[in-house]
Amino acid sequence: MTTHLPHPRAGGAAAPNAAGEDPHRSLHSQTGPRPGEHPGRSSNPLVKVVGLAWLEFEKPDLDRAGRFGTDFGFTVADRTTDTLLLRARQAGTACLLIRRGPRPRFVGPAFAAADRDDLDRLARGTGGTVTVHRGGRAVLLRDPSGFPVRVVHGVPELPALPGRLPLPLNFGSGPARVNAAQRPDRQPAQIRRLGHVVLGTTRFGAALDWYLDTLGVIVSDFLYLDGQRDRGPAMAFIRCDLGGVPADHHTLAMILQPQTGYVHSAYELTDLDEVAASGEYLRERGHRHAWGLGRHIQGSQIFDYWRDPDKAMFEHYADGDVFDCTVEPGWAPLSRSGLAQWGPKATAEFTGTNDPRLVVAAIKALAEAGNEVDLRTLRGLIKAMSS
Ligand SMILES: [Fe+2]
Repeated sequence: MTTHLPHPRAGGAAAPNAAGEDPHRSLHSQTGPRPGEHPGRSSNPLVKVVGLAWLEFEKPDLDRAGRFGTDFGFTVADRTTDTLLLRARQAGTACLLIRRGPRPRFVGPAFAAADRDDLDRLARGTGGTVTVHRGGRAVLLRDPSGFPVRVVHGVPELPALPGRLPLPLNFGSGPARVNAAQRPDRQPAQIRRLGHVVLGTTRFGAALDWYLDTLGVIVSDFLYLDGQRDRGPAMAFIRCDLGGVPADHHTLAMILQPQTGYVHSAYELTDLDEVAASGEYLRERGHRHAWGLGRHIQGSQIFDYWRDPDKAMFEHYADGDVFDCTVEPGWAPLSRSGLAQWGPKATAEFTGTNDPRLVVAAIKALAEAGNEVDLRTLRGLIKAMSS
């Protein structure tokens, strides 16, 4: 078990923005960092990745995975006996690579490098090797949680597919829609792109520093366990550092919890009507709803969460925040009620607190050496999920 304060990389107070305002009050969070807290970025990262390329899963039944995938809004890009590639509408690599495996499991994420030289830099810095992978090049790393993490470059991209446009809305002054009715179709979503992945880990602090130092990603928001801020953050929403180019509020999020594993991944839709109407379609098709609709606080997305037949959670979202590199981390307490600005209360189906394996995982985590989960952590997480 480790505690995180004072953090050796020492953050300072939030700098005022150009308008002279504290960005954490006006923009996205209750407070900024206190002196000595984790700064949320590395001073000298090995590289700066530019996004998520894809996520890899194993599943025993690829037909079943394909049925959920197309109902959820993906398009099948390729299918063999042992692999299923599911893609979004924007140009890019297929965002889900599903291999046939004996049991359903998340394997790991692949991040996109800005250029080929970054793979050499990563290989030199981590003792890894650059290999040919899916028609491009890749370095295979392992994060402190144990996830295999690929960083890829030059993998051939699929061309864009036509997708729906935002509905013309008669909001504000001047109607955008005259002599025409609004009739959003109750049909599968047309997923624009992969947005983010959320991972749970028993080694949160080590994994956080590894991603910042190795992949050059930066923190948008930290959440701490209420009453335990002095022990450092327990959750981080992490974006790519694209300099002055706005990046999604989070491409990766990680939370300290008793069990290391996949929490959910999220896919961007065009607008609120698409999130709602495609959810109705999933409901009619008998899929399992987890939580929504609502609007998040960290990232501000309009969200709706579903579970696939293997209970892996997938999120539809629209209208998320984008930050450039100037925005410093916000700090707020983790709580169930703090997960959304509006919408139904977060369900046990979403938080995972209805999973009977949780107690066993907690006991195991307490007994296991080298992780960051102790009794105070568990008490803090229980308090957060009931507040
Ligand atoms: Fe999410």
